[in-house]
Amino acid sequence: MQDLLFHNSQLDEEILDSTGWNVIEREFQPAKQHHKETVFTLGNGYLGTRGTFEEGYPNDSSATLIHGIYDDVAITQTELVNCPNWLPLVIKVGGERFRLDSGEILRYERRLDLRLGIISRDVSWRSPTGHTLEFHFERFVSLADQHVLAIRCQITSVDFDGEVSVEVAFHSDPSTQGVKHWKTLNHNGVNNIIWLHSQTIHSTIQLGMAAKLVFEGEDIAPIQLHHAECPKLQTNFVIQSGQTVSLEKIVTVYTSRETPTPSELALIRLVTMPSYTTLLAAHIASWEQQWHDSDILIEGDLKAQLSVRYNLFQLLAAAPRYDDRVSIPPKTLSGFEYSGHIFWDTEIFILPFLTLTQPALARNLLSYRYHTLLGARRKAQEAGYSGAMYAWESATTGDEVTPRWLRTENGDMVRIWCGDIEVHINTDIAYAAWHYWAYTGDDQWMRDYGAEIILDTSVFWESRVEWNAQRECYDIRHVIGPDENHDRIDNNAFTNLMVKWHLQSALALFDWLKQAYPNVATQLEDKLNLVNQRLEKWAEISNNLFVNHDHETGLIEQFEGFFDLEDVNLADYEPRTKSMQGLLGVEATSQKQILKQPDVLMLLYLLRDQYNHKTLKANWDYYNPRTDHSYGSSLGPAINAILACDLNQPLEAYTHFMRAALVDLEDVRLNAAKGVHAASAGGVWQTVVFGFAGIRMTQFGPVACPNLPSGWTRLKFRLKWRNEFYEFDLAGSENTNYMQQHLVSSNHQSTIEAAA
Ligand code: BGC
Repeated sequence: MQDLLFHNSQLDEEILDSTGWNVIEREFQPAKQHHKETVFTLGNGYLGTRGTFEEGYPNDSSATLIHGIYDDVAITQTELVNCPNWLPLVIKVGGERFRLDSGEILRYERRLDLRLGIISRDVSWRSPTGHTLEFHFERFVSLADQHVLAIRCQITSVDFDGEVSVEVAFHSDPSTQGVKHWKTLNHNGVNNIIWLHSQTIHSTIQLGMAAKLVFEGEDIAPIQLHHAECPKLQTNFVIQSGQTVSLEKIVTVYTSRETPTPSELALIRLVTMPSYTTLLAAHIASWEQQWHDSDILIEGDLKAQLSVRYNLFQLLAAAPRYDDRVSIPPKTLSGFEYSGHIFWDTEIFILPFLTLTQPALARNLLSYRYHTLLGARRKAQEAGYSGAMYAWESATTGDEVTPRWLRTENGDMVRIWCGDIEVHINTDIAYAAWHYWAYTGDDQWMRDYGAEIILDTSVFWESRVEWNAQRECYDIRHVIGPDENHDRIDNNAFTNLMVKWHLQSALALFDWLKQAYPNVATQLEDKLNLVNQRLEKWAEISNNLFVNHDHETGLIEQFEGFFDLEDVNLADYEPRTKSMQGLLGVEATSQKQILKQPDVLMLLYLLRDQYNHKTLKANWDYYNPRTDHSYGSSLGPAINAILACDLNQPLEAYTHFMRAALVDLEDVRLNAAKGVHAASAGGVWQTVVFGFAGIRMTQFGPVACPNLPSGWTRLKFRLKWRNEFYEFDLAGSENTNYMQQHLVSSNHQSTIEAAA
């Protein structure tokens, strides 16, 4: 464990500024190119665009991903596809192309303003033949109007008198990790406007994109270039030393998921588009609104402040706003890994943040699971079960899309069993639906969507459990728990105890439904055959699921036989830059007590109200040292941080927390190039709120029992609980712990004094 690794390190000059709102890159380092492309990703809940440069750079990994735009592909079946690149803006100075790999960079600064949702870049550049110019780029993807994207570029000549040429284009045929998915149907232009009409090859989703080039206050008229591959606009003008020319590329984008005529609509919208400044003002106002409810203020620890906001920014940028048939992939819309498929990452890691600060967005994400129930039913049926069995990896229809084979870090091909047997996803979804309901009081959503999810997944469990006559209990055999280092195991404690919770909750829910909405209860009773006998069976199963829980010590065995596996000391393998599985191989790791991520501890976190301190401590002491914290799974550190708070281990909590908080900004796991770690980002919010602030939900609303990290002098955030906002303004001291908690709700205000 690298104690206080992050806390005591020199504040990283490269990323910090004193406001806690700006991520700054002060030097362009080609070796970090792909990592920084991820860091500087922008999104607006509709699309995400990686932070590649407008003018391009060799080997850049540009990507624009739009929610729901999947196409068929070998092995992973369907993938979120890289959409036409809207960024290209090529500038030539006296015939020499401006790009950071040529000439000389005299000054460079790139900034992501999280508060405003804007990326800007200042470059002082000397061309290969010695002309000096300054470039200021600014970019946003509008949060106010998700179909509008904009770039502004100001070119100032320091000592060059001569011709500059500007070319704007779309790259219409980008590849997605080497695979081409687009067929151009049409492209063209008129005056200062170009457009593109494309279609995905297999799923035949259409996309329309249009762009216009506008020169501010200058009488410069662009012309179209006829190019077989993609639409382009080009213009030349003369610049004098000391002169600044300012231009804007405004882009609109639609797909056939929103309109039958995406290219026409993109064009019509563009023609009537207000000015860049007006668009920008609306965009900023929208971000302001988001931050009003979702911000976390931390005083006394600038690095934690900035990194927390960064994580929240990326989640808000990825959460679909007007679409309830899509969800957030593990890499948001910022990278290709996991093919844009949907995992439990959304429900268990990301949702609590949205449920408690932006419930309308949480509702969208959960409704995606309702709309994919048919796929879940097909999956159950194909596997010989009843009810709904959600896909471990899901896309448009909810059918299972987990690849069956994958190449490991070592190059071996291994069979992936998650799609067949990582069944805990079923409970994870029910758990998220239940908590959304509990925290928002949205009875209508539960009645119309949530109830069917929770009840039909219970029907599945009834068919999945097996009676063990010898032990006189129910088994759930042949599964994978959260710790994927061990597959095809029996009686995973996480799965079994979550199923117990699930069935008990389903029974309580059905009772409520019968009382509150008898007609809906009757409809569901008929549809899912919820006869009394079935409900009694659920109660019986929930009371008799096998778990090896030593009530004397509190220790829970992760699955049957786990304690018989070879025990190893993970410290013996340090230092390393690979996961334990990468180091030892899949088979050897599965024979050892090495966890990829919390499993029993994950359970104790999710059901934290059901377990006492002794149980938590016993399992923490056992499983924590056996978990691959550094390279196992990025989903782990935040959960460990919260539990360390519960166990009053502040240094351990802080170290895990910062590992999660900086996973992308500082590339802690050396894989941020592949995209933002969305689940970790959600875990960061949960650590601050449920860990450091110690928020517990009571029947009277959320209450805090804080334990702030050393140095945090203030922690402030809002939670929305059943339509009321609760504001927490917690004061800490230089040395640790907390002084007072100040709770303000729309109805009442109270101040609670508490000792450390
Ligand atoms: C983790 C899963 C997670 C998936 C996507 C895997 O490595 O073990 O828990 O859902 O990544 O983030």
